[in-house]
Amino acid sequence: MLPHKQIELRLHAALRAVLPDADVSAVLVRPCPDLKFGDYQTNALMSVAKVRRMNPRQLAADVLTRLDVSEWCEPVQIAGAGFLNFRLLPEALSRTLAGVVQSGHLFFEQATRPQTVVVDFSSPNVAKPMHVGHIRSTILGDCLARTLRLLGHRVVTDNHIGDWGTQFGMLLLGWKTLLDRASLDREAIGELERIYKSMVERCKADPQQLELAKRELVQLQGGDPENLGIWREMIRLSQIQFDTVYGRLGVKFDHTLGESFYNPKLQPLVGELVASGLARESDGAIAIFFDDIPQLKDNPALIRKSDGGFNYATTDLATLAYRLETWKPDEIIYVTDGRQQLHFQQVFTAFRKWHGQSTTKLAHVWFGSILGEDGKPFKTRSGETVKLAGLLDEAQERAFKIVCEKSAALPEAQRREIARVVGLGAVKYADLLPNRQSDYVFSWDKMLALQGNTAPYLQYAYARIRSIFRKLGVGEYTAPHAAPDLKAPEEFILAKHLLNFGLTLEAVAEEHRPNFLCNYLHELAGKFTGFYENCPVLKADDTTRASRLALCDLTARVLKLGLETLGIETVEQM
Ligand code: ARG
Repeated sequence: MLPHKQIELRLHAALRAVLPDADVSAVLVRPCPDLKFGDYQTNALMSVAKVRRMNPRQLAADVLTRLDVSEWCEPVQIAGAGFLNFRLLPEALSRTLAGVVQSGHLFFEQATRPQTVVVDFSSPNVAKPMHVGHIRSTILGDCLARTLRLLGHRVVTDNHIGDWGTQFGMLLLGWKTLLDRASLDREAIGELERIYKSMVERCKADPQQLELAKRELVQLQGGDPENLGIWREMIRLSQIQFDTVYGRLGVKFDHTLGESFYNPKLQPLVGELVASGLARESDGAIAIFFDDIPQLKDNPALIRKSDGGFNYATTDLATLAYRLETWKPDEIIYVTDGRQQLHFQQVFTAFRKWHGQSTTKLAHVWFGSILGEDGKPFKTRSGETVKLAGLLDEAQERAFKIVCEKSAALPEAQRREIARVVGLGAVKYADLLPNRQSDYVFSWDKMLALQGNTAPYLQYAYARIRSIFRKLGVGEYTAPHAAPDLKAPEEFILAKHLLNFGLTLEAVAEEHRPNFLCNYLHELAGKFTGFYENCPVLKADDTTRASRLALCDLTARVLKLGLETLGIETVEQM
């Protein structure tokens, strides 16, 4: 068990000895934000004291008299208003590293109570090209799913594609009257987008066209075989393109249950909500009202339009019910942009009224926009949305130029492969690094830089460590034989940071924030540099070399696994 966990357990026992009825579940030991004060700290006693109107410093002092962590820490310090600061003993650190070397676990533990978590992410709309806006949902969602899986949770990923809606009226009419077969074969989604756009123009100019489009839609909804066939074909062609992008990004889904999957469930759902008094009629439509909730008072959730059609919220409520029944999740995570906040507030609130007894957590993990260097929404020069496939091509091309400058001697195929890994990694990392709720500026130069908080920098740090082992001629070096024997201050600093890998993963999973892991890895690479510049490895005597190689290897493995958890690949040589 990692030291912070051991300390935490002892702390719980000490607190219970002082306050037998205290709830210790929120009493956590976390890394100290400033290493000046210690390696770990807890601020939880202050909250306990506050609730009970106790003097926090007195409580901390009382707990301290019952707390024995001498196996792990130097004498514990009370700081500020009632923090406890813990500084690890060198022996405790060495013991932990030896344990890691022996057992092969990598500074994280599997969840003791694994949860079932559904992650709803990416979810593009059919017949439209995936554009730069989809990258955030896809990359963030994939990273959260990977993190949860790594920690031993049961994860169900579901791509809730937009495969139903009024746009199919125009698409069907366009398909029947404007379709260019050759271009459909060449670039299906491009052609679907083209017929859709020209249909929109035509319908604007000619009400008769609009009538025809509506008729196509009604026929589709009524189950007309011809229209159903065309609609299915449009989904199939779109899915092929989605899958190409997902393949490049290394993103997989367990299920792709699009909106249309829930169609048969909508009518009965609305019936049930009306019968139970949760929804009622208003101006011919049916809605769920939230009179008791100030923020939603003026925003009822529409679940049936006056023309009998259903709404986005209706489908999401049906989807929720299905997921609950099918997977019995402890949590459902929805990854979409910030503009859908009101929608999810409505859906979640409606759900609580409807399934009051459910303990399933619902999280809307929302994100901001990607901006161009001019600070406006990121567009092509001609003002169109940036298509994802082209963006990934450009990333690889730009990375290829850089790789050719740096490593001209490598064979071209290898340079191409490095460029693929570096280019895609750079785009993903640039997306994961900012606080997800803020907008970020898309900058090729920044994301591809070999210096700074970037993927190429981390990939390079990994490759550099691997090159140490290549130079040593131990190509097959897979795991350290000896536990590191720490002596230099830089070795301690690096080793202590390694210990926080698992805590970082847990924080990513709890707060749905991959940027924590980005920053952790960036710091790790920095601490490794400090170590490597001050502590010779290959030139050291045999025992020191074995110890330092072990530290190199553990760092490389954490870097590799950490990047993998972000969905980013590594190469052995750059
Ligand atoms: N298709 C939607 C869009 O492109 C996103 C769907 C998100 N998931 C959900 N269950 N509503 O905006």
